[in-house]
Amino acid sequence: MSDIKWEKRYEIGHDRIDFEHQIFVDLIAKIDDAVKLGNDDNYVERLLNELRVYAVFHFISEENIMYLAGYPDYDTHKQHHDELLANFSQKIMESQLEKHKLEALIIFLKDWFVSHTLNEDKKIASFVEGKNV
Ligand SMILES: [Fe+2]
Repeated sequence: MSDIKWEKRYEIGHDRIDFEHQIFVDLIAKIDDAVKLGNDDNYVERLLNELRVYAVFHFISEENIMYLAGYPDYDTHKQHHDELLANFSQKIMESQLEKHKLEALIIFLKDWFVSHTLNEDKKIASFVEGKNV
């Protein structure tokens, strides 16, 4: 079983974003499990695609919250989302579904999530607090 799981410290205090982040973490854990258990390549590829498409959705969701709130660092934040999506797609391609490369990709995703959430998403939550978005 993957040791990647949702932790209380990831909470930023915005219900909708926290909810979506839990699914994000859950999908990373699912990929981790599939790689560790040696599930077939097709399934691993499907899960990677599920997370990639979910990330697209989740980033748009956050960007719309920022847009509605008139968040001042919208452009920089969106740029970080776009960079992650580009890196993620690139790394999926480069991995050729080899186990050690997938393990590195999982660590990359998890580290990115933790650092982005605690450093950047937290600022959205603080900014929109009380704005009802
Ligand atoms: Fe974000």
